Amino acid sequence: MIIKEIQEFQAIHYDLLLSADPDKQLVEDYIKRSVCFDAMFDGSPVGILALLPTRPETLEIVNIAVSETYQGQGIGEKLLQFALSYAKNSQYKTVEIGTGSTSFGQLYLYQKCGFRMTSIDRDFFIRHYEEEIVENKLILKDMVRLSMDV
Ligand code: ACO
Ligand code: ACO
Repeated sequence: MIIKEIQEFQAIHYDLLLSADPDKQLVEDYIKRSVCFDAMFDGSPVGILALLPTRPETLEIVNIAVSETYQGQGIGEKLLQFALSYAKNSQYKTVEIGTGSTSFGQLYLYQKCGFRMTSIDRDFFIRHYEEEIVENKLILKDMVRLSMDV
């Protein structure tokens, strides 16, 4: 598996981005301002990572996804470690990530990698998403924000 910067977006990249974030408009918007990488396996993209500079010295992981068939094999964790190394080598001081309060597996993974919770953006998903999102049998309303100093 290799991780490389994406030069040209293909349909598979969009499928991955939308599996992490269902709002096509929002995705289109932040992708333009982000540096994006894919995880390649046997010549095909199986994972994606989008990193957006937000405030001075701060980089946000705005999108991370692994295709369903390849989930649970450590690729997500490798992408997170890659993001942290990239941030450090590019002189960023802090890496942030936000996820749904109902995304229990993702919250586990991010904390396992060293992220700490910083705040809750209450009703974020009600305000920003037209379609209701249901996850783990719960209606998703709040965003949990996590960060790590690198
Ligand atoms: N539910 C339960 N546990 C999970 C989940 C999950 N959804 N995702 C990861 N884990 C656990 C794994 O079981 C594993 O645990 P272990 O170390 O104890 O064995 C650990 O986290 C590492 O898992 P990986 O195999 O490295 O993760 P994976 O390659 O499956 O990628 C990812 C994780 C990216 C979250 C993937 O599940 C995915 O693409 N999900 C759909 C899209 C998504 O939710 N993206 C994140 C949205 S937030 C954002 O983009 C900023
Ligand atoms: N992990 C995952 N799911 C859980 C857990 C858990 N620890 N606890 C409850 N759930 C889920 C159940 O799966 C169930 O889901 P479903 O409706 O989709 O089937 C739902 O929550 C309701 O479960 P109950 O059977 O009503 O909960 P239970 O009788 O097991 O009591 C409790 C939950 C009190 C948390 C129990 O697990 C416990 O005593 N844990 C140890 C002590 C503890 O952690 N207490 C809370 C600390 S915080 C505080 O005290 C303020």
